[in-house]
Amino acid sequence: MPGSTPSGTPRAPRGTHDVLWPESARWEAFVAGFAELAHSAGYGLAETPVFEDASVFRRGIGEASDVVGKEMYEFEDRDGTMLALRPEGTAPVVRAYLQHRPVLPWKAWYLTAAFRHERPQAGRYRQHHQVGIEALGEAHADLDVEVIWLANRFFGTLGLRDYVLSINSMGDERCRPAFVEILARYLHEHGAELCEEHRQRIDANPLRVLDCKRPECRAATEGVPRLIDHLCEDCASHFERVRTGLGALGIAAQIDHRLVRGLDYYTRTTFEFASGAIEAAQNGIGGGGRYDRLAEAMGGPPTPGIGFGIGIERVLLACDAVGCFPADPAPLDGWLIDLLDGTVARDLSIELREAGLRVDRGFGDRSLKAHLRAADRSGANAALIVGADEQASGTVALRPLRGGEQRRVPRGEIAQALRALREAP
Ligand code: HAM
Repeated sequence: MPGSTPSGTPRAPRGTHDVLWPESARWEAFVAGFAELAHSAGYGLAETPVFEDASVFRRGIGEASDVVGKEMYEFEDRDGTMLALRPEGTAPVVRAYLQHRPVLPWKAWYLTAAFRHERPQAGRYRQHHQVGIEALGEAHADLDVEVIWLANRFFGTLGLRDYVLSINSMGDERCRPAFVEILARYLHEHGAELCEEHRQRIDANPLRVLDCKRPECRAATEGVPRLIDHLCEDCASHFERVRTGLGALGIAAQIDHRLVRGLDYYTRTTFEFASGAIEAAQNGIGGGGRYDRLAEAMGGPPTPGIGFGIGIERVLLACDAVGCFPADPAPLDGWLIDLLDGTVARDLSIELREAGLRVDRGFGDRSLKAHLRAADRSGANAALIVGADEQASGTVALRPLRGGEQRRVPRGEIAQALRALREAP
């Protein structure tokens, strides 16, 4: 049976994965670090449903994109409505903005699972996870700089260095149509060199050809006309201001003329971070850009916007490849072993947790040796043992598990003793 182990028990679906302890400790730290950084720049958490009306993505992302055309998980609800599992986080945030109309500028950060029916491989999943931000209501180029700085800063806090930032401008509705015509002409001239799929689809959306990663298309689009040579004055000065701002912050960015990204909502600035430490086909660790027409495409008033999404799995793969941001789960402070009827363990474990300590306990009528093995496996700093003598004297035997002598500690001083162990080098 697909999706089950040899013994017949169920498995997670292909292209999805479980995140369990201790790896999950790294996820907690990742998200907490991102939240802190996002808060520092005025972003508040936005939580939107896992599924949306399919039109949110069809109108928002574009039918010609792979994400909508080939990869979206779309299904009919019991009442016939077409729904889709969210393939990305931007369109839902813009939908939420249009629904609730918070005061602009509105800055939101999110943690989201994203669903795309891709061919699963290392770093490419059918359910992946992103942290991201979206800033709505401000068109100034300095916001683009702030947004790119934020992603760059986040990678820095994780200890990642080995990546490249590429940027481009997609122009806007004034300058892009003329460029698209020039591009289509060029692509028709080179049609024979393109991959089968894109040879057929030049007219559907010529910009999509620039996003094709197949070697034929890469080679054929090497000398393609560059959008930044055809920008209108406003788009050109916007792009220039972004470049100057990044330069002033010491953020190195290279221009990639083919960086159109896989979603059709972008206008003006687009950017992508590629890790040098992981497989090239899946080395995009984060990307984003401006989408000044997205709110209108979804039926709302003109509302500029910009944001990015960072793939958690990919970033952690990149961290593993260079040995930064290790999983470092906070250990338990103590593990309680009650050799009597368990009453002391029941009460003391709760008392210590209420005092802010991390404590767990063993259950059952087992030998001290078996209890100590469990204490050791738990990774706790110390075992706290209660036998008849300790109970009679109102003490606990504190046995450090990472070196040190066992000693008796009065019950009222245990919290303090465990804190001292936590802080010991
Ligand atoms: P995206 O480039 O499609 O952009 O995805 C963002 C990041 O998610 C990628 O850079 C990559 O790290 C990760 N990712 C994408 N697909 C997969 C996958 N199948 N498996 C593992 N990781 C993946 C967006 O989704 C836009 N919403 C970003 C954005 C926000 N633009 C403006 N605001």
